[in-house]
Amino acid sequence: MADEKLVLSEIKDGVGLVRLNRPKAMNALNHALMLELMDTLEALDADTKVGAIVLTGDARAFAAGADIKEMQAASAVEMLLKDHIGPFDRITAISKPIIAAVSGWCLGGGNELAMACDMIVAAEGAKFGQPEINLGVMPGAGGTQRLTKAVGKAIAMEMVLNNRTLSAAEALGFGLVNRVVPAERYLEEALELAQEIAARAPLALRMGKRAVNRALETHLSDGIAEERHAFYFLFASEDQQEGMQAFGEKRKPEWQGK
Ligand code: CAA
Repeated sequence: MADEKLVLSEIKDGVGLVRLNRPKAMNALNHALMLELMDTLEALDADTKVGAIVLTGDARAFAAGADIKEMQAASAVEMLLKDHIGPFDRITAISKPIIAAVSGWCLGGGNELAMACDMIVAAEGAKFGQPEINLGVMPGAGGTQRLTKAVGKAIAMEMVLNNRTLSAAEALGFGLVNRVVPAERYLEEALELAQEIAARAPLALRMGKRAVNRALETHLSDGIAEERHAFYFLFASEDQQEGMQAFGEKRKPEWQGK
């Protein structure tokens, strides 16, 4: 249906659950879906009821990549002017933790999207790859960069140059994913993890996420300096006082996000 939503979202127990909704196309990421996805993530980021976000597809596919049919006839100039990949970058400005819950195929732009999240929970049968080489192109949304930082050069080269697909167990071994769980549990496990995280001190979460991500982009001494400033900054928060006081009083802290 023309007006069917490409992205579904709901909020439950402090967690925003976002589902890619093109099941017949293996959740291929067309331009309209990416815009809708980023609008949805930004709305959840701004919602004070939400502490963390889970991004998922369906059992068959997290996402099988950018939409090949949409790109097929595009010229380089059209790709550039439309900034086809541009919307991907908006995910990096989301301040709340995002967990990708991956089942089935996680390929090309799908794998790049999962890697742009902060953690990945994978179903046992999930498969990760960068098959762009089969289409005469290469990854264009972080698949040579984030992947190399995650799994190292040797495996990244095999995936990018020779379409090596990783099983969930291999992805765990190479550090691409956080945990592998039984297929029927992947979404519940991701939601439980997100709920745990969402219950934590919001400002410390925000600063911690930012600092870890900075480690991928900056030199060690610059990263350490930024980390130190963020650490000191948190001593201006009520949550720091509450957290340390609660420790002394042997009780659970009550976070205010202030
Ligand atoms: N784009 C558009 N449509 C896609 C798609 C994609 N990336 N992946 C799957 N589909 C569509 C298929 O065309 C098919 O549609 P029809 O029923 O209308 O023919 C439907 O989804 C189901 O797919 P299959 O029949 O192929 O299902 P399968 O189980 O036999 O195979 C698959 C599944 C291995 C994922 C296979 O569909 C596949 O190889 N897909 C393409 C994967 C790929 O090359 N991804 C990289 C895209 S380029 C990219 O992502 C660039 C970037 O860096 C941003």
